[in-house]
Amino acid sequence: MNRAEQIAALIREEMAGLPVVSWPLDAGLPLAVVGFGADEVIAAVDALVSTRVTMGERVRNFEAAWAGYCGRQHGVMVNSGSSANLVLLAALVETGQLQPGDEVLVPAVTWSTSLFPIAQCGLRPVMVDVSPHSLCIDPASARAARSERTRAVLAVHLLGQAAELDAFADLLVLEDACGAHGAVYHGRPVGSFGAGSAFSFFFSHHITTIEGGIVVTDDAHLADTMRSIRAHGWVRERQDRAEWAAASPEIDPRFLFVSAGYNLRPTEVQGAFGLHQLRRLPAWVAQRRANHAAWCAAFADIPGVTVFPEVEGTEHAGFAFPLLVDGERAAVMAELEAAGVETRPISGSNLVRQPAFPRVAGASAPVPLPVSDRVHEKGFFFGNSHAFRPEHGQRAAEIVRRWSHSCTP
Ligand SMILES: Cc1ncc(COP(=O)(O)O)c(C=O)c1O
Repeated sequence: MNRAEQIAALIREEMAGLPVVSWPLDAGLPLAVVGFGADEVIAAVDALVSTRVTMGERVRNFEAAWAGYCGRQHGVMVNSGSSANLVLLAALVETGQLQPGDEVLVPAVTWSTSLFPIAQCGLRPVMVDVSPHSLCIDPASARAARSERTRAVLAVHLLGQAAELDAFADLLVLEDACGAHGAVYHGRPVGSFGAGSAFSFFFSHHITTIEGGIVVTDDAHLADTMRSIRAHGWVRERQDRAEWAAASPEIDPRFLFVSAGYNLRPTEVQGAFGLHQLRRLPAWVAQRRANHAAWCAAFADIPGVTVFPEVEGTEHAGFAFPLLVDGERAAVMAELEAAGVETRPISGSNLVRQPAFPRVAGASAPVPLPVSDRVHEKGFFFGNSHAFRPEHGQRAAEIVRRWSHSCTP
């Protein structure tokens, strides 16, 4: 064995059993289970030992692989899903596809950084209610919220459920698929519809690069613009860099800045992780889907409890298992927690009710948000994972059923 093989063998020994592929039934239900193992760590160590640690070939290879998985031409990897939303919106403004002041529809129930980057790019977020069937943006509420300045919709595929994209044919559609890896809408993967589509690879997601995110698109110019915005505004990673260099012959082409950019770059460690993680994804999504379907059946007849089965024409990717309860939410969450089932609110719940909302420049909430309010007051989720099985959720259902009966006079 050479030294590299010895190190790999040590890592395999140290990390035996990881990633966890089968979670013990009596060990509770955590919100997330470690989804990486020795393969990812060996690839990460290999990147570190090579000393090529800043964004390079591994990131490029992962970008191509992820774009291919989504059926898209280009992938631009960044350091988080939040940055993916930011770089996409900034590039749409820079390329003139959106103008400062344009209104962008966004569901009120989503993660905070679906909303904030819209305002950060000089656009106006318009908060829309979510559907009581999917928890994704409600087309009827979106119609009511539109004005003559509405140009785009940020359709969030919440917790693995695909949003109703067909309802927005006359708008620029952007997808926030940060929690929906492997979900399908009308026969095609989510992420294959938007002018640009964002994913997150945070630790607790379907697959992980520790922190990380990506935008996929078929628009070569948009992709180039995102490449410079993610890296200081630099021309360096752009495919059209020769044209830029020719237009500014007096500037050293290695230090030519063409966008008002940020630094949102990922590292080679993240690229190395991603390449291994992608191989695991199809089987893991299949397990999450099976869990989701079985858990919906197990909860279906519990009085006063609403769950969210896969919407017809879609494939649910089972990020987590959301519920709404008619009774006292804190009480049922406490029962579950006491039994080792970790719970938390649904994403940022109704973001209009968060203290940050008044600080979101230009944001408005012109329509009623009754479903978002109900999610805010009565919603929570527990985790789904490739390592869980139908029996895990069935146990949670028993706890909720007992609680529900105890509330019934
Ligand atoms: C819908 C949605 N958008 C954006 C994000 C942000 O992703 P990240 O945590 O990688 O910044 C998340 C995170 O879970 C999310 O669920």
